[in-house]
Amino acid sequence: MRESRRSRTGWSTNLWHPRCRRVVFFEMDPMSSPISDSLRVDYSGVPLLESQVDPDPIVQFKRWLDDAMANDVPQANAMALATADERARPSVRIVLLKDFDANGFVFHTNYTGRKAHDLEVNQYAALVFFWEKVSRQVRIEGSVQKTTREESARYFSTRPRGAQIGAWASEQSSPIESREMLYAREAESAKSFGNDPIPLPDFWGGYRVKPSMIEFWQGQPSRLHDRLVYTRATNGSWTITRLAP
Ligand SMILES: Cc1cc2nc3c(=O)[nH]c(=O)nc-3n(C[C@H](O)[C@H](O)[C@H](O)COP(=O)(O)O)c2cc1C
Repeated sequence: MRESRRSRTGWSTNLWHPRCRRVVFFEMDPMSSPISDSLRVDYSGVPLLESQVDPDPIVQFKRWLDDAMANDVPQANAMALATADERARPSVRIVLLKDFDANGFVFHTNYTGRKAHDLEVNQYAALVFFWEKVSRQVRIEGSVQKTTREESARYFSTRPRGAQIGAWASEQSSPIESREMLYAREAESAKSFGNDPIPLPDFWGGYRVKPSMIEFWQGQPSRLHDRLVYTRATNGSWTITRLAP
């Protein structure tokens, strides 16, 4: 619960303190903030050097994803997906990476929600992974295409039955009266399928982000982070550029 009030020294507020693991009362110097003071992290990690990365960013991504999983990074396949609508207004949300290779990065979703609308009118998107435990970030930008129905169906068939029913029951991103309504729709869908296999809804499937840019960011002490950016040329080859942090 956050409650701010004016004090002798300026503003003061109740905030959750991550290290103390409780809500504490901060006296705030108007020139500083409890967030910048208590959440400051000095990153560390093995430097990311041009001589050590793979010339193929997909191979490099696999190496880093494997590292993240080996280090028990929670939900290492969770990525922020940014899209923009016809007025160039951006929106961003988390989705799960389900597959990747030289052709791109795949996630699955409902084809009627906001991201689907954005991707209909603007086929460019950006992804970002943040793996705090290993002080790493990966940014990806590229064009987006739907996966084939066969590919979507293959993935859908691997989902737990409950998640398959959920996909049928939820008109993702449209207003809904209540949670009870969601349960009612779920029960209705479950009943209509009985014990039959659940087919892929035609309003559901995958998207593939074909990368034109992939940036690998490795946190380093004193904010002297490494940033290696792979840029794809029209002939498909990749060049690596180091950016200042
Ligand atoms: C950890 C996590 C994983 C998620 N994975 C997916 C996913 O793979 N696909 C999906 O459609 N939504 C996923 N969501 C929900 C989305 O963030 C979002 O709420 C939903 O897709 C609606 O987005 P839209 O209205 O922009 O289309 C996930 C959310 C979280 C927090």
